[in-house]
Amino acid sequence: MAAFTHHIFVCCNQRSPGHSRGCCDPDGSASLRSALKAQVKQRGLKPAVRANSAGCLDQCEHGPTLAIYPQGIFYGGVTLEDVPRILDETIVGGRVLEDLLIDEACLNNPRCEHIVARESGDAPSDPT
Ligand code: FES
Repeated sequence: MAAFTHHIFVCCNQRSPGHSRGCCDPDGSASLRSALKAQVKQRGLKPAVRANSAGCLDQCEHGPTLAIYPQGIFYGGVTLEDVPRILDETIVGGRVLEDLLIDEACLNNPRCEHIVARESGDAPSDPT
């Protein structure tokens, strides 16, 4: 079997309402992962592309998040409406969607502006 070209890990982590970090799948529907999985299949991208449920990717302040490997792309603030262009532009076209890309300065940075803003109760509208 051919190796995966893209493995999409979709955070489906749930936390209790009011948790300070929030979570990527508050209603537990895994709707983002389901949409990616269905549209991967529709586009005939299987088996080289796979969308899996993942636990917390530790980028909660930027959620909903997903990671694409082996490219190492982290997207945040992802909505169902973003699914077609993630597949068409990033997976097929090889282009990074700058509006969804979590800034390098934010990845694994406990003092990034989004975390500081959330802790102060002043969350910015753009999570990436
Ligand atoms: S809950 Fe999704 S990254 Fe932490």
